[in-house]
Amino acid sequence: MIVKNIDFSDNTLILAPMAGVSDVGFRALASSFGADATVTEMLSARAMAHNPKKTEFMTLTTNEEKILIAQIFGHEEDFMQRAISSPLLEKFQVIDINMGCPAPKIVKNGEGVALMDNLPLASKIISACKNSTDKPLSVKFRKGNKSENFLDFARMCEESGADYVTFHARTAAQGYSGHADYDAIANIKAKLKIPVIGNGDVVDKKSFEEMKATGVDGVMVGRGAMGRPWIFAELKGSNVEIDRFKVVQRHVQILREYFDENWLKLYIRKHLLWYASNLPMSASLRLKLATCENIDECLEILKKAFA
Ligand SMILES: Cc1cc2nc3c(=O)[nH]c(=O)nc-3n(C[C@H](O)[C@H](O)[C@H](O)COP(=O)(O)O)c2cc1C
Repeated sequence: MIVKNIDFSDNTLILAPMAGVSDVGFRALASSFGADATVTEMLSARAMAHNPKKTEFMTLTTNEEKILIAQIFGHEEDFMQRAISSPLLEKFQVIDINMGCPAPKIVKNGEGVALMDNLPLASKIISACKNSTDKPLSVKFRKGNKSENFLDFARMCEESGADYVTFHARTAAQGYSGHADYDAIANIKAKLKIPVIGNGDVVDKKSFEEMKATGVDGVMVGRGAMGRPWIFAELKGSNVEIDRFKVVQRHVQILREYFDENWLKLYIRKHLLWYASNLPMSASLRLKLATCENIDECLEILKKAFA
């Protein structure tokens, strides 16, 4: 799919934005295994204006990433415009607006999925962002917040200037429960002229084929990549050798280039637990990983487990 000047590959595969998960190392690994594009964790437009240092670490990138997408959220047009013009986002080729986050602290500010209940404001934000950049602009949203108004919302995105949309086919109330509604994805795809990226529950070849059958222009993968960024190679049918321990090592190595060891020790634990989740004896392994003193000790434990 070609969006403005950006040439996404056929059947574009995108690593989802995931707050607290899609760090620079994880995005680099997903890219090395075939993700065509990667999205940052959601970046607060207000925080970018008031305290850009706090956001900077989320905008780190490596040369491994191909198409760089920055995701911003907010409910004020001026802050959104300022965020887009921020030097922090200069290197990103695509700007994505989060209109799907159901987290209470976001919704109570009228941001994220709350904007699905306020089409006039959502439209104003999209138009304002569109007027502030020549880069492709996308909007990521859900089936709805208070009502399932995804079709009206998608049409509004198109009319307001979005170059493509990403649709996670669950309502806010569903959170991550139940199954994403692939009929709703096919429905949106049939009604819009702009490209549609389908998202929700792609975890293997079978679900990938089911998602592609909706006719979408690209597929976004989130939780299916946790602890296995090589899923992109599997979905593409690439014959790459996967040394799982080397993947973990590389993840740690990239993050060590940027982050303090004390912070990293606490942060990386969840990733290590995901990497370990499919190993035999995973319960005792999880306990060991959860209680080990430092990263090198954790790596030693994983090395033995992967051997
Ligand atoms: C831990 C976590 C953090 C997330 N953070 C974001 C985010 O920052 N922005 C966003 O648009 N969606 C976020 N999401 C939603 C994902 O991008 C994606 O839409 C959702 O997980 C469904 O896709 P999946 O079934 O492939 O995981 C998050 C999901 C998870 C599990």
